[in-house]
Amino acid sequence: MKHAIALAAIFLVTACASPAPNEPQSSVERGQAMAAQNCSGCHAIGRSGDSPAPQAPPFRTLSQNYPLEALEEAFAEGISVGHAGMPEFAFAPEDVNALVAYLQSIQDTLTRE
Ligand code: HEC
Repeated sequence: MKHAIALAAIFLVTACASPAPNEPQSSVERGQAMAAQNCSGCHAIGRSGDSPAPQAPPFRTLSQNYPLEALEEAFAEGISVGHAGMPEFAFAPEDVNALVAYLQSIQDTLTRE
């Protein structure tokens, strides 16, 4: 029994370590994790797929309606505008940066230089 547990532990360690050995998590990755945790219940947060909530725009299309910089401000103040049935969010500045960095990384049409 002990043997099996040790093997499982080794497997877990290698599985977690393999993608980026010693690098700290990038802000894009952090933003992606935040989106997965807070937003994916309603929005499509990836490069493809439909939003679970039909009213919620897929995140990859947001820059078609907004400069993403404008979202940065909205997130920092707590985004509630236009969010019928959406919980209100207020993020710390570094979290807002991470979220916006992630959003920028998945936009269909890059509107930034
Ligand atoms: C409970 C469902 C729900 C969750 C969770 C949710 N949203 Fe939304 N969101 C919506 C809906 C519905 C709309 C469309 C509202 C409308 O067009 O009136 C929307 C619209 C938006 C818009 C466009 C705003 C606008 O005025 O058009 C942004 C940006 C957005 N959401 C960001 C987020 C972010 C970031 C998160 C996670 C931190 C999140 N949403 C989580 C339901 C949700």
